[in-house]
Amino acid sequence: MDIGIIGGTGGIGKRFAALFQEKGHPVHVCGRRSGPDYPELARICPIVITAVPMGVSGEVIGKIGPLMDRGSLLMDLGSLQAPAVRLMMEASSSEVIGMHPLFGPDVSSLSGQNIVLCPGRGEKWLAWLKAFLEDGEARVSVIDPDKQDEIMALVQGLNHLNTILMGLVLRGSGADFSALDGFSTPLFRRKAEIVEKVFRGNARLYAELIALNPNMKKILDLYAENLAKIISLIEQKDIASLIKIIEAKG
Ligand SMILES: NC(=O)c1ccc[n+]([C@@H]2O[C@H](COP(=O)([O-])OP(=O)(O)OC[C@H]3O[C@@H](n4cnc5c(N)ncnc54)[C@H](OP(=O)(O)O)[C@@H]3O)[C@@H](O)[C@H]2O)c1
Repeated sequence: MDIGIIGGTGGIGKRFAALFQEKGHPVHVCGRRSGPDYPELARICPIVITAVPMGVSGEVIGKIGPLMDRGSLLMDLGSLQAPAVRLMMEASSSEVIGMHPLFGPDVSSLSGQNIVLCPGRGEKWLAWLKAFLEDGEARVSVIDPDKQDEIMALVQGLNHLNTILMGLVLRGSGADFSALDGFSTPLFRRKAEIVEKVFRGNARLYAELIALNPNMKKILDLYAENLAKIISLIEQKDIASLIKIIEAKG
């Protein structure tokens, strides 16, 4: 069974191209300048997957969706699924699934990895996809796309926002990192590695994860509120209240 991946020339799409190929599926990948055109891709592939930056997935889904047969499957690998599933439903009459892999392109197998599925339309391909992923020992969760995006505001939005802010403060401090090595703790080294991974990684991905998730408004308000509270307690040297905040349960 042939599988087409728009955005399969790089990133997570390329990783999935390899995973499908390992299981014997012929895979056809395209990017902006290479690979088959969309009518050709839809003609030869009963499954077409979009794995492009979230900022362009609307445009890409709008072009490929109308070309898909009713019995075929259109899937998007984006980190935010509410807009992708809605656009796929509007643009196509095919079966529709949103699939968010909770790992990056550096992962070599599905084994033990979390994957979120957001079914849009149809049952046939959903059963096939779940069987494929579970056969690879992935941990599959099936959830409503709005709920997955709400969870991702915490798991990815807050998480990366925090990392980016730590990186900006470190950079702004003017500290010489090579000189810090002999003074670092294990926890600082772990966090510094994460900062480095994000600052050297796919900047567009991190920017879109934070800026395109509508659920981030609530997270940003909570972040600002808590930061202001902590700054005020630090300025007052109010150790008792800081201890109370750190020790508070729930
Ligand atoms: N990377 C991750 O860790 C990860 C994990 C889970 C989900 N995701 C999601 O996967 C999607 C892709 O992210 P990524 O990190 O894999 O991005 P990426 O590394 O930047 O790769 C993007 C791919 O999309 C293609 N592309 C870019 N613009 C295009 C356009 N206008 N038309 C057609 N193809 C286009 C690129 O091909 P050319 O360069 O050849 O044009 C490339 O193959 C995003 O929605 C992201 O949220 C990413």
